[in-house]
Amino acid sequence: DGTAFVPAVVIGTGYGAAVSALRLGEAGVRTVMLEMGQLWNQPGPDGNVFSGMLKPDKRSSWFKNRTEAPLGSFLWLDLANRDIDPYAGVLDRVNFDQMSVYVGRGVGGGSLVNGGMAVAPKRSYFEEVLPRVDSAEMYERYFPRANSMLRVNHIDSGWFESTEWYKFARVSRDQAQKAGLGTVHVPNVYDFDHMRREAAGEVPKSALAAEVIYGNNHGKQSLDKTYLAAALGTGKVTIETLHQARTIRQQKDGTYLLTVEQRDADGRLLATKEISCRHLFLGAGSLGSTELLLRARETGTLPELSPEIGAGWGPNGNIMTARANHVWNPTGANQSSIPALGIDDWDNPQNPVFAEIAPMPAGLETWVSLYLAITKNPERGTFAYDAATDRAALRWTRDQNTPAVNAAKSLFDRINKANTTMYRYDLFGKQLKAFSDDFTYHPLGGCVLGRATDDYGRVKGYKNLYVTDGSLIPGSIGVNPFVTITALAERNIERVIRQDVTAS
Ligand code: FDA
Repeated sequence: DGTAFVPAVVIGTGYGAAVSALRLGEAGVRTVMLEMGQLWNQPGPDGNVFSGMLKPDKRSSWFKNRTEAPLGSFLWLDLANRDIDPYAGVLDRVNFDQMSVYVGRGVGGGSLVNGGMAVAPKRSYFEEVLPRVDSAEMYERYFPRANSMLRVNHIDSGWFESTEWYKFARVSRDQAQKAGLGTVHVPNVYDFDHMRREAAGEVPKSALAAEVIYGNNHGKQSLDKTYLAAALGTGKVTIETLHQARTIRQQKDGTYLLTVEQRDADGRLLATKEISCRHLFLGAGSLGSTELLLRARETGTLPELSPEIGAGWGPNGNIMTARANHVWNPTGANQSSIPALGIDDWDNPQNPVFAEIAPMPAGLETWVSLYLAITKNPERGTFAYDAATDRAALRWTRDQNTPAVNAAKSLFDRINKANTTMYRYDLFGKQLKAFSDDFTYHPLGGCVLGRATDDYGRVKGYKNLYVTDGSLIPGSIGVNPFVTITALAERNIERVIRQDVTAS
């Protein structure tokens, strides 16, 4: 009847998906991965795979008429954005009513567009967020496994102290220290050795050419170079690109039937396919996996799904802010796009904040110190299925971010006071605004571990159906999330393969 059967399907190719596919492949299970975005390995007309941050073209964005950069303005001028043709580009900004969420689209998911910061959470906070997960096992086995597979590496401190490319971070460190705040080096998956050779002029520049959110042409060890390469290397895993899973139903024999739309890179529908499988893994990210399950529950194709599907979403307390430095305190025209230092005030009992010192690689002196603060915001959003659009709509109001803004403000007020500096008000849109509280890079939750699923990501109400990605984490993890997503997926898939897959 035209329906292809494969033993296992993994939806998405981000962190959770990539881990699951590799381990399934190693266990000898034939696995198809479905990815709605493209494989990013073909150079465009300019000879580069990705379009760069300062002059973005259609490769930058997922079906937009204009790019939507997080820092669109400078002195209220919309400088960073460009008109483009709608195309299956690499970065999407999903705009809900009062919250926008950035996600990666393509083979490798968020790993293609993110800052590469590879941070394990404070163990005590991990235990607070996921109390039913054995933390000893996580910190002794699965975090180290994730770090090694992701090729996490550390910046050479001698180079960090001397290079012009991290002057912006050293300036911010000095100012934090004046306020009595400590900083930590942040590990990364960007190859710091490559970056040093970029600085020496030995290899083409990527981090040192302001590349990051629209893809790095060099140096970044994204998932396509790590987990996914290993998965394909098992000979058991294949990836179908520009294939978007739309619906999931269970058949009488317990297998799952997916409808999948295949498009070209300009968005034209090429085919609607049916694929069936025994084991189905959702790794479409917090927004993607939650939407697929919500649609299935609300349209009655998987009616036994838990009411917890769609609940427990949060933006990981993300708040962006910027300070204006004194004229005698420049931050440098040359800035690496890869952050390498964070202000660690997470143990502050009133206002825990972990703030990454972010670059503003504008190619000219701006005197700006930029930060992405991760705060502990207890507020949570909920997804509801909207039948009219067939989409999951996020119920989250702007005022739910007030606790996060207040926490960030308490930290940066301290820094401003100690240095007699001010906030920048011109960077986050048209109004006067010191804090950007309307977007996140770190969507978490929607199918929370132990609530919408069991303690290993098995979806409640169904057999052989799993969630593997950031939707398992209940809205906050206190640091940049991909190492946690990866380690948790490693833990879960080990159990699932042993108990559900090889045993069946
Ligand atoms: P992820 O979102 O990675 O992957 C989901 C994949 O599924 C995507 O490729 C998507 O196209 C695909 N998909 C969705 N729906 C589908 C469907 N129906 N059918 C087929 N495919 C579908 N984190 C961090 O730890 N350090 C950092 O420095 C940063 N920096 C950062 C910067 C920017 C700009 C962004 C956008 C994000 C970050 N992050 C980050 C966050 C990090 O990238 C994010 O947490 C992870 O990518 C989430 O991993 P998941 O496995 O949950 O899904």
